[in-house]
Amino acid sequence: MADDVGQAPWHLSGNWAPRQDEVTETNLEIEGEIPHHLNGTYIRTGPNPKSGKSPHWFLGDGMIHGIRLREGKAEWYRNAFIQTTSLGVPFGASGNPRDISNSKANTHILQHGDRVLALYETGLPWRIDQDLNTLGIETFGGDLQTAMTAHPKVCPVTGELMAFSYAEMQEPLLRYVRIGKDGEVKQTEGIDIPRIVMMHDFAITRNYSIFLDLPVCFDLNLLATGMPFEFKPEAGARIGVMPRAGGNGDIRWFEIPPCFIFHTVNAHEVGSKIVLTASRLKAAFQGTPDDFANVGYLWRWTLDLETGAVKEEQLDDRPGDFARVNGSRLGLEARFGYLMSMAGEGEGGEPIYGSELLKYDLQSGACKVHRLGDTVRGGEPTFVSTGAEEDQGYVMTFCHDEATGQSTFIIVDAQDFDASPVATIHLPHRVPYGAHGNWVPLG
Ligand SMILES: [Fe+2]
Repeated sequence: MADDVGQAPWHLSGNWAPRQDEVTETNLEIEGEIPHHLNGTYIRTGPNPKSGKSPHWFLGDGMIHGIRLREGKAEWYRNAFIQTTSLGVPFGASGNPRDISNSKANTHILQHGDRVLALYETGLPWRIDQDLNTLGIETFGGDLQTAMTAHPKVCPVTGELMAFSYAEMQEPLLRYVRIGKDGEVKQTEGIDIPRIVMMHDFAITRNYSIFLDLPVCFDLNLLATGMPFEFKPEAGARIGVMPRAGGNGDIRWFEIPPCFIFHTVNAHEVGSKIVLTASRLKAAFQGTPDDFANVGYLWRWTLDLETGAVKEEQLDDRPGDFARVNGSRLGLEARFGYLMSMAGEGEGGEPIYGSELLKYDLQSGACKVHRLGDTVRGGEPTFVSTGAEEDQGYVMTFCHDEATGQSTFIIVDAQDFDASPVATIHLPHRVPYGAHGNWVPLG
């Protein structure tokens, strides 16, 4: 067939290529020793088109890969499609793309209370269980009436979940949602922004929610690409700071030089100042929505609510992204941030996940490096706390060796970060590069 001629795009090639099979393997080869107090499931999602095709990396069906750990054993590895209503339906062929029930659930996994959610930037969450079964779409009793970012924030102090949506593409162009620890939607606010922009992540502090109005702008002319966004620095860039329970009129906007941020690291308050750390890209989606030529670097912004002053500074010259902190420090002053190194752009235009995991001391700027191996590419370094000290715990992620084709799951002692993993679990098949995941304790 004519449309099969030529090379597949990067997001369908190599270890980005989707899997079609779903397996459960209980007989896993393990090197090292799995810590006995890790009892739970690491679950990671990623775009994995069931049909084998999708127009853009971001648009494939969600497939989850999970590892169940219990009392020093790896009980199983399993992968499964999330059974969304759009599973197997090519993007754009399933009716209104602004239908927020039309989620691919391919971007993040997050636990809030007894719910484990599979998230997608422009859709409602899908609920899954700890055995990777799909339970159904999650509307919080019908009260969640906007899409939910794939990067909601759960406050470690109050248990509230803060989220936003720009998926509706009609005014108000930004919507903010606050859900209580009890799973009740407490607040839905419309927020005015001047144009539709891609907003992948945000941040919280103890008292504020922080929005990133950055110039990756919606452009109708790019609709056929499936990802109609383009970097337009002339649109300007702003960071918005809103009291957590506040509204549109309470936001303070701080102008910053144009840039793009996929992922924040954390934010916290120091007196009247908000300190935000994030991976800053000088641009993204330049000329084409498939442009991943730029990579993020660790930057810090200090926004003074009293004087309106903004200070921004680069903290390191190592490219890194997919940051995580200890969840008990989210929105508070976290000393440690864990990032995956980025290795630039490949020949097919793909972002190359790096061969290092980075542990930053955000106070001193010092960085410890965990080397995965020259031909091994990593994933998001998820931190799992096992004690009172902030870095007492483990960093875990899926890895893939480009030379051998072997995929592994590694567990690294965060306090002995540059040492070999305490455990490496060899996986029964290739685990494609994916998006984000989380640790879900057994319960
Ligand atoms: Fe993300």
